[in-house]
Amino acid sequence: MPSRVRVLIPASSANLGPGFDCLGLALSLHNAVEFTALGPGEGLQVEVEGEGAGWLATDGGNLIVRAANAVWEATGHAPTGVRVKAGNGIPLGSGLGSSAAATVGGLVAANALLDNPLPRSALLRLARQIEGHPDNAAAALFGGLTMVSAVGEELMCESLEVPPMKVAIALPNVRLSTREARDALPLHVPLSDAVFNIGRTAFVVRALQKGDFAMLGWAMTDRLHQPYRRKLIPGFDAAVQAARTAGAAAVALSGAGPSVAAFAPDKHWEIANAMKAAFEASGVSCRTFVLPVDRQGVQISAVG
Ligand code: HSE
Repeated sequence: MPSRVRVLIPASSANLGPGFDCLGLALSLHNAVEFTALGPGEGLQVEVEGEGAGWLATDGGNLIVRAANAVWEATGHAPTGVRVKAGNGIPLGSGLGSSAAATVGGLVAANALLDNPLPRSALLRLARQIEGHPDNAAAALFGGLTMVSAVGEELMCESLEVPPMKVAIALPNVRLSTREARDALPLHVPLSDAVFNIGRTAFVVRALQKGDFAMLGWAMTDRLHQPYRRKLIPGFDAAVQAARTAGAAAVALSGAGPSVAAFAPDKHWEIANAMKAAFEASGVSCRTFVLPVDRQGVQISAVG
C-alpha cells in the first residue's frame, strides 16, 4: 500500500448550452490533492492553499474528506490517520467545477491510498451521490468531452476525444451558488423546449468532436436553464453579445454560472477581455481565463 499519493484534478464546464446535467468539458486549470497516511492517534489533518484557503473547512466537513469517507465506507478500509493537503487553482462558486474537483480529488486520492480497489465508474457513482449531478465529476474524472445520463439508479457515461481547443472564460464577481441557480429553474418545461434541447445537444457533441465552430455556434443554444438563470447574473447578456462581437462562435453559461464560456478557433484573449469589459460596464468586476481543453482527466501524479 502506498503511504502518500498526489492527484491533479481538472476544472470543468458543464451543460455546454443545451446539455443540461448531461455534458461536461474538462479544462486545464487544476486542483492538487495530496493524501499522506498517518499512524494511529495522528487523526485527520487538513491544509488548504490557494482558492478558498482561510474559509474552506479544515476538519471532517471538508468536501475532500467527505468524499474520501465515501470510499472508506464503500470499501470497509480506512487509514488510521491521514494528512490532506489541497492546493486549489479552481475558483470556488464559479461554475468551473470546483466542488466536483474537490469531490473527485478526495475519491481518487482515498482510492489510490488503498491501491485502487474501486473502478472509476464506481467513483463516478459516489461523486454523483455527493454532488447531486454527475456532469462536472464525469469531466473531471475522464477528461475531454463527457456525456452522462443519470436517472434514478442508472448512470451511463462516455468520454469523447475532441481536437485541441481553448475556451475563453469570464468569471464575474457575482455570488451565485449552484443551489440558488437550480432553485431558479422550473419543475416542468414545455415539450417543445425539451425537443429543442435534445436536438441541439446532439449537434453540440458532433460539433465539438469535429472542431466545427460554425455548427457549434448554431447548436450551443438552450431553452432549459439559461433563460431562467441569466437574470441572476448582472451583465450576462452584454457579455454574451461582447464575446460574439469579438469573434466567439458560441457562448454558454458555464455550469450553473456565474462564469461564461466562449468558444472560438482563435482570438481567445480578445474575447475574454471583451466579456470582462462588458461585465465591468455593468458594474461587475471580472476575472478572465483562457483554458485549453484537458484531454486526460484526473491524474495520479505521485505515489510514494
Ligand atoms: N448541471 C449543473 C447545473 C452543473 O447546471 O446545475 C452545476 O455546475
